Amino acid sequence: MCGIVGYTGNRQVTEVLLQGIRRLEYRGYDSAGIALLEDGNFRVIKSVGKVAGLVEKVGQNGHGSPGIKTGIAHTRWATHGAPTEANAHPHLDSQNNFAVVHNGIIENYSVLRDRLIKKGHKFLSETDSEVIPHLIQEFYQNDFASAVIQALQQIEGTYGIVVSSKNHPGQLIAARKGSPIVIGVGENEMIVASDIMAIVSYTAKVIYLNDGDVALINPNNVEIRNIHNVPVSRGTSTIDWDIRLVEKGGFEHFMLKEIHEQPESITNAVRGRLDHANGTAILSGLNMQPQDLVAIDRIIIAACGTSLHAGMIGKYYFEELAGILTEVEQAAEFRYRNPIVGVNTLALAISQSGETADTLAAIKEAKMKGAQVAAICNVVGSTIARETERGVYIHAGPEISVASTKAFTSQVAVLLMMALKLARSRRFTQQEGIILSNEIEMIPELIQKVIDRSKEIEKIAKKWSGAKDFFFIGRGYLYPAALEGALKLKEISYIHAEGYHAAELKHGPIALLDPSVPVVALANDVLGKDKTISNIQECKARKSPVIVTATEGDEGMKQLTDDVLWIPRTSKYLAPLPTVVALQLLAYYIAKERGCPIDHPRNLAKSVTVE
Ligand code: F6R
Repeated sequence: MCGIVGYTGNRQVTEVLLQGIRRLEYRGYDSAGIALLEDGNFRVIKSVGKVAGLVEKVGQNGHGSPGIKTGIAHTRWATHGAPTEANAHPHLDSQNNFAVVHNGIIENYSVLRDRLIKKGHKFLSETDSEVIPHLIQEFYQNDFASAVIQALQQIEGTYGIVVSSKNHPGQLIAARKGSPIVIGVGENEMIVASDIMAIVSYTAKVIYLNDGDVALINPNNVEIRNIHNVPVSRGTSTIDWDIRLVEKGGFEHFMLKEIHEQPESITNAVRGRLDHANGTAILSGLNMQPQDLVAIDRIIIAACGTSLHAGMIGKYYFEELAGILTEVEQAAEFRYRNPIVGVNTLALAISQSGETADTLAAIKEAKMKGAQVAAICNVVGSTIARETERGVYIHAGPEISVASTKAFTSQVAVLLMMALKLARSRRFTQQEGIILSNEIEMIPELIQKVIDRSKEIEKIAKKWSGAKDFFFIGRGYLYPAALEGALKLKEISYIHAEGYHAAELKHGPIALLDPSVPVVALANDVLGKDKTISNIQECKARKSPVIVTATEGDEGMKQLTDDVLWIPRTSKYLAPLPTVVALQLLAYYIAKERGCPIDHPRNLAKSVTVE
C-alpha cells in the first residue's frame, strides 16, 4: 500500500515524480503529495483524491524553477488518519529541514510522538509517518545518514521511506524494513520507488534494497549501509519489462487490456517449460532433483484473495495428479494458528505482487518451522521471491489493474506444470505426462476463444447489471472458479456477490434466493455437471434467474437457463481457466455499465503490505 518515488538528477523532477506516482497509483489513491527542493526550501503540494488532482494543482502552481534537481512524492492508502491534505505525505519536521514519504506502519508511533511533543515538536497530521521527519530532526548534527539511521533505530513496525534534506540538496536517503524499495540507476540520475513501475521509463538497471538497508543516493552513486551504519554491498539487476506493458495501449481500462493479454501472458508462463518428449515440465527455479521431489510428503499453499483461489485449484492438481496431500491456507490464518510443518513439507506462497504482508509472514513462519519454501510470483525481485530459495515466476508482465486477472490464469498454469513435474516423479507414466503437457499448450487458444465472445458476454452483462446480489456456484475444479467470479464482480462493480460450492447452497444461502438474485452456475461439461444441473433446478424453483457457463455445443443448457456464457470444451483440469476469463469479462462489463472506476475500485489497493 502507498506508492513512493524520489528523484535526483538533471531531468524535470516534477514530471518524473508525477509520472512515477501515477504509475504507482494502484498501490493507493486516496491522496497524493509532492515535495520539491527549490531555492534551498521545500515546496510542498498535496491534494485529496487521485494523482490527477495533484497533477492539476502542481500545474496551477507552476512546474518549478529550472534548477530543481531533487524531489519526493507519494500516493496514499490511508491507515492512520483520514484521507485529508494534512494527512497526505510528504511530511516535514517542525523546522522544515526534512521531508519524508513513507509506506508501512510505525507501530510505536504514539509513544514516539508523545516524547517528541514534550520536546517541543509540533505535529500537523494524525499519521504515524509524521514521527519520522521529527525524529530525524531530533538526531541531526550535520550528518544526514547518521540522523536517519538513529531515527530508524527508534522505530518499531514497517517502512519503506525516502527522505530529502534541505541541508543536503541533490541527496536522498531511502530505507526499507518490510516495505519494498528499489533504486533505478541512470546516467547521472537516480530514481527510487516502491516498485519498478515508476522506474522502467528511465532505466533498466536497478538495485533492490534488503530489509534493514539504508541507501545514500546521489545522482552518480549509491552507498548502502545497514541499520548499524556499517557499509553493505548490493548488486544491480536488469529489468526486462517493456514500457508498452505499463500503458493502456488503446484499451479503455487496464483491466480489459490485461484480460485480453491472457493468451500471451500464459504463453510466456509456459514458454520453454514443457518437455513434451518426456512428458514433464522444466521448472529450473524450483531447483529440485528427482529425489527432492519424491521426498515431499505434504504441500501447504499460503496465499490471499485471487491468489488463494488459484491455490485452491493447485490443491486439486497436486492431490489428483501427483498424489501429494495438499492444504490451502488463507495466509493470515496460517501464521497465527501454530501450524504443524515437517521437513518434508513444501510451503508454497502464491503472490502476484510478491509483497503481500500475510503471505510473506506465512512463508517466514513455515521456514522457521523447518519447511522447504517456494513461491509462485509475478514481480521479479519482490520480497516473497527473495525470501524463498525456490520458485517459479509467472512472467505475466506488470499487472496494473487492481483487480487481478492475468496473474490468476498464469498462476493456475504454473501450478498445473508443477503438478505435472511432481506427478512424473511419482505415479505418472511418460504417456500420461505427454498428454497433459500437450493439453497445457492449448490454454492460450482456449482463452482466446472466450475473449472472441466478448460481445455476447457484454450483452448478458448489461442485462443483469442492475442486480443488487449475485451468487456464483460450482463444483470440483469449478468451485474455486466460482469464488473467483464472485470476488471479481464484488470488487469492481460493488454488487454484493457470494461464491459457494454448488452443494452448499441448500445448507443456508438458498434462503436468500428470489427473482431479484441471479445465480451464475458453472456447469461446463466436466465431472460434476449433472449434479450442478440439479442445483440449477433448485435455484429455478426459487425463481432465481440462472446464468450458466456451459460447454460449446451443449445446447440443452439454453432451455434450462436464462443466459449462457459459452466455454470451449476442455478437460476438467483446464476448465477453470477459460471459465474464469468469461467471469472476468462478465464482471468487467457489469462494472462498466454501472459506471464504476474499474481500475481503481474504492477502498482497495493492489499490493496489501499491511496485515
Ligand atoms: C483481487 C486481488 C486481490 C489479490 C490479493 C493478493 O482481484 O487482486 O485479492 O489477489 O490481495 O495479492 P498478491 O497476489 O499480490 O499476493
